[in-house]
Amino acid sequence: MKADELLIEDHGVIRGLLHQLEQSRSEHAAERSELLDRLLSVLDVHVQIENDLFYPAIRDVSPLYAIAHAEHRQIDDQLAVVFRTDPTSEDFHTEVKMLAATVEHHASEEEQEMFPQAKALGETELETLGQAMRQRQQHLRTSAVSQTRLRIKRETLRRL
Ligand SMILES: [Fe+2]
Ligand SMILES: [Fe+2]
Repeated sequence: MKADELLIEDHGVIRGLLHQLEQSRSEHAAERSELLDRLLSVLDVHVQIENDLFYPAIRDVSPLYAIAHAEHRQIDDQLAVVFRTDPTSEDFHTEVKMLAATVEHHASEEEQEMFPQAKALGETELETLGQAMRQRQQHLRTSAVSQTRLRIKRETLRRL
């Protein structure tokens, strides 16, 4: 699978989880927390493969990586706010909506501007890059070290 196709597939999962979070109700706080944990896991791996593999590979063909890095930090900050917000409160829905809007702005920019520019790398390069990203994605999803890192990040966010 090509690098841009892999990232678009991920965006679909992220959009789906955000949609479920937006639809979730304050009486179902446990469900909200579980969805939020899943969103953190998917977003964390997604941002790592973009920051470490995709963005460096497209630097010469797309200037958008610089603003994209800044948007990743913004998404991280807003995700931290959602973690800090009581899932039984009205505020939770408001914060999720704002996070979803930021993520949508960022993902659309990648899909509509950055990925078309990345096509200048050529099909073979995008395919090779996609394979490397898939391997890293699977490693990050399963390795004990990254699972521990993610658990600590989750616990830290909940304690703030
Ligand atoms: Fe991104
Ligand atoms: Fe992305």
